[in-house]
Amino acid sequence: MATTVSALAGPRPLPLVGNLAEFVRGQVSHRVLDRWADEFGPTFRFRLGGSDVIGTADPAIVDVALRKRPDAFRRSARVSDVIDEIAAHGVFTAEDDKWRRLRKVAAQSLNVAYLRQYFTTITMVTERLLRQWETAAGSGESIDVLDRMMRYTLDVTSGLAMGHDLNALENTGEGLHSRVPMLFPAFSRRINAAFPYWRYVKLPQDRRLDGTVGEIEAIVKERFAQARVRVAAGEPPSNFLEALVKPIENEPGITDDEVFGNVLTMLLAGEDTTSSTAAWALHYLAENPDVHEKVRAEADEVLGDQRLPTDPGTVGRLKYAEAVVNEVLRLRPVAPYLGVETKHDMTLGDLFLAEGTTLFLLTSYGARRDTARFPDPDQFRPSRWLDGAVKTEALPFAPFGNGPRFCPGRNLAIIEASIVTSVLARAFDFIPDHTAGPVEERMAFTVFPTNLHLRVRARA
Ligand code: HEM
Repeated sequence: MATTVSALAGPRPLPLVGNLAEFVRGQVSHRVLDRWADEFGPTFRFRLGGSDVIGTADPAIVDVALRKRPDAFRRSARVSDVIDEIAAHGVFTAEDDKWRRLRKVAAQSLNVAYLRQYFTTITMVTERLLRQWETAAGSGESIDVLDRMMRYTLDVTSGLAMGHDLNALENTGEGLHSRVPMLFPAFSRRINAAFPYWRYVKLPQDRRLDGTVGEIEAIVKERFAQARVRVAAGEPPSNFLEALVKPIENEPGITDDEVFGNVLTMLLAGEDTTSSTAAWALHYLAENPDVHEKVRAEADEVLGDQRLPTDPGTVGRLKYAEAVVNEVLRLRPVAPYLGVETKHDMTLGDLFLAEGTTLFLLTSYGARRDTARFPDPDQFRPSRWLDGAVKTEALPFAPFGNGPRFCPGRNLAIIEASIVTSVLARAFDFIPDHTAGPVEERMAFTVFPTNLHLRVRARA
């Protein structure tokens, strides 16, 4: 006989709020889930407000839940509703046929051929970053690493998503670039709110959110009009927005609203995720000089007298830098759990799940606990990815998800994070600056580092 959800072990819930307070306290919900998995076993139960949630790190369940989409599982409605309401109703939140259509365009516009085409944008933005760090090395100023990485990924992603150069790296004043980073924390606040107050009353933070979304919408509208003209003139799509124009001509189902939702989705999905990963990579290099030295030696060998990689093939040869990025994603995954919901009654293993059950899938818990496949799992050891013993994108290591909704931006993310790691490590020595306090992590829709400051010195 199948086990029911109510028979699963889990933390004791409080009346009304359940385990919400413990879950959100300190903004480290991913660590709370890890702790519950340690204490109650790989599949456990807890309550957020009035709803039961299953947490699971069981690779068999995680694998089925990720692969059987969109037919048997959908994204958690709690997450999708909040994102949709903010207007980012694109491929991330779409389901069924709408998702199939949008996914095709998203996957195509991030495929290897397109990335080759976009590479000049990546090179241009990386050159900008490098020049800025050279200035910082000269002045001795302390660099807010996450802020710099966010500006870097925002510049790359806004170029790729809509052909617009925000130049967030050099625009240090107020502007859209300084407001985009508030979007994820706003999602997080709403997803974890006990009550959707913003539907009844808008606080200043909600008005700021609406204003930022409106600003992006205005840029997208202007770019959209230009994209239509270019594509009608027979020009090949040079960014995601232009790639969306083609299906719009053939499929009247994709509306202007959906175009906006998708461009916004791409902007959001591509920014905080990659910037946190790159920032953590630089942190680990600063803390591990031997690893820094290896990244530098590889960059010297692969790049020779080139200042920057100028094509994806060269980045592909930066194997050690990529191993650093994988090790960062293992220890500091930006999306450590994914929320899904069952679309009908089912039995997984011996667990019965009714339609509408929410599961939080701990997609890389095992990669921090499985000592057979990941010896000394707490140690930062990039070389573990080079001997072939562990594989990327095989459970229990799925930082980009898995199955048909696997992150279509993975290649771009690995390229960006590897370039930043390699090029900056080659040019500079890193000196950790703990004046603001110890480096910590926080979860606000994605996980990011706090207090991550470095001083840099031109390489001796
Ligand atoms: C280190 C960087 C990144 C990480 C860790 C990451 C992680 C993820 C994860 C875990 C998912 C959910 C996958 C699933 O449900 O199975 C996802 C979805 C997605 N990601 Fe990424 N991502 C990153 C960078 C990017 C970039 C650079 C882009 C594009 C510019 C991007 C675009 C998307 C999109 C469009 C989806 C939705 C896919 C769908 O629902 O079909 N991501 N990402």
